[in-house]
Amino acid sequence: MVQAVIWQRDRLLLLDQRALPERIEYVQCGNFREIARAIKDMVVRGAPAIGIAGGYAVAMAAAEASQMPPSLAREHLGKAAEEIASARPTAVNLAWAVNRVLKAATLALESEGPQGVIAAAEREAYEVEREDIEVNRAIGERGASLVPEGARILTHCNAGALATGGYGTALGVVRRAWEQGKVSMVYADETRPYLQGARLTAWELLQDGIKVTVLVDSAAGYLMAKGGVDLVVVGADRVARNGDVANKIGTYTLACLAKLHSIPFYVAAPLSTFDMSIESGSDIPIEERAESEVLSFFGRPVAPEGARAFNPSFDITPASLISGIITEKGVILPDIAENLPKVIGSAKEGA
Ligand code: MRU
Repeated sequence: MVQAVIWQRDRLLLLDQRALPERIEYVQCGNFREIARAIKDMVVRGAPAIGIAGGYAVAMAAAEASQMPPSLAREHLGKAAEEIASARPTAVNLAWAVNRVLKAATLALESEGPQGVIAAAEREAYEVEREDIEVNRAIGERGASLVPEGARILTHCNAGALATGGYGTALGVVRRAWEQGKVSMVYADETRPYLQGARLTAWELLQDGIKVTVLVDSAAGYLMAKGGVDLVVVGADRVARNGDVANKIGTYTLACLAKLHSIPFYVAAPLSTFDMSIESGSDIPIEERAESEVLSFFGRPVAPEGARAFNPSFDITPASLISGIITEKGVILPDIAENLPKVIGSAKEGA
């Protein structure tokens, strides 16, 4: 299966997701700043995948810190972690993974001195990656049990192997259900403006021989009205304590449409995506990206000069529109706000 992030100790290789599906090429990052830049520039994207890359970025900062006197080393690590975690603001997995590796590195610095810090940070970053793949398989298994025979599944953006350590969250559900012979078609929303659905989801599903049909985002309502969708499953960038979900722009629209047409609408999200320190979706920071992403298409202008663009990268789907949140620990069913702590329990502390 395709690997979005490859750790090679002296460098991190990131599959350049801007080039897919045309070209398969990796960007080499030799220090934490280059990784932070690659996260900002969407070389690597998807909540768990940027978390994994962020974790390795802290490991690279730890290697630099190991050459410094302890007080400077601590400061260096703290500043690096801040820079990495702020590369993209919405997906909580990034700050969660960065803090996890920072904590391991700082502890090692205190107990073992500079010699221990590199190994400790690297070990923790590797754990973040390894756990993610395991978690996705569990999500896939739980989610597949919700998929009816012959299902036509609609998904948005890319919540697959490319967006995670492997297998995917929403696409983990699709993969497992496909392996069980239950999927007749996957519909991938194109996902304007960045085309994660058309370029990435369609590509990675075809790599695995899974049937896929791409549609423009605005065709989803018509497809549902015709009775062409049995289930919607999407990923998440952050889940608030009340079950509101931040995910790729357009997710909220899909959830409204699914409600109107009585189609189950599921969110697949690992515990690392839950932010128990945030009360509701309105407190989740929403990244706004460059206007040029909307005003041009592959370098060609698609709007007259002088037109402005509104380009939020994510939106908030209220818990009331969600049929269930599929996690590695179980499916959170409505009433989501009430059931969320029962499934999450003490497994997840604040991010
Ligand atoms: O801007 P992106 O491509 O990073 O947005 C990705 C998404 O919205 C995904 O659905 C989400 O991160 C979940 S990935 C398992």
